[in-house]
Amino acid sequence: MSSVISKRTFTVAGNWKLHKTPNEAVAFLREMVSTVGSSPDPQLVIFPQALAVDQACRAVHGTSLSIGVQNINEAVEGAFTGEISARVARVLGCRFALIGHSERRRLFHETDEDCGRKILTAQREGLVPVLCVGETADENRSGQTATVLDRQLAAAFAVGDVDPSLVIAYEPVWAIGTGQVAMPEQAQASHARIRQWLRVRIGDALAERVPVWYGGSVKADNALELAKQPDIDGFLIGGAALSSTSLAQIWRKAHDRGR
Ligand code: PGA
Repeated sequence: MSSVISKRTFTVAGNWKLHKTPNEAVAFLREMVSTVGSSPDPQLVIFPQALAVDQACRAVHGTSLSIGVQNINEAVEGAFTGEISARVARVLGCRFALIGHSERRRLFHETDEDCGRKILTAQREGLVPVLCVGETADENRSGQTATVLDRQLAAAFAVGDVDPSLVIAYEPVWAIGTGQVAMPEQAQASHARIRQWLRVRIGDALAERVPVWYGGSVKADNALELAKQPDIDGFLIGGAALSSTSLAQIWRKAHDRGR
């Protein structure tokens, strides 16, 4: 598994939530394939809703784009009506699985421990888990950001022997879908905190290889400054990933970040 991510490739990821039919997904992905061309930098990942994953995987087959699922169950088969199997996601061609997005935590009552079990399932089935963490507005106001991040990471890693081949997505809950983006320095501080936690847990060398993505109101006009922060290795984008024009603009900003 550790070979899945060998270095921190910058990633632009779109989380489509409960939007886009399979046909809309395919048309969008075809446009993005021509925007990205053969450039692997940044890598582009799309998380369609589960019912569009099969066609999305077919649409990007043989390109540099990847597909992920927005959620998995910790079980891969069994009597779990309505759930999503990591094994089937992998068979269809997915590479990534979002784990513990704040909407899953808030609306579907997922706990840190659930996230830990799902990470293990994803890794066992050959998917790269993207563990979403982040503080609420109240926690941010009362200066608890670092404590919350440490707690979420510790609880998720406590469930079992987590392989360092994963992605952490820092998504401050107050920034998701609100238009209120974290200041680049503020986001960098949280990313550095996450990296520091990883260093203590898995050692310096492995911690350097874990990509930490930022999510929460990323748009074309704030992408460049965020992408230039040393510990921001990618974006998880909701609203602005629903338009191929704005996603392509963000992708280009991230592509130009080193210039
Ligand atoms: P947003 O969503 O970009 O619309 O804030 C981010 C997310 O939910 O992952």
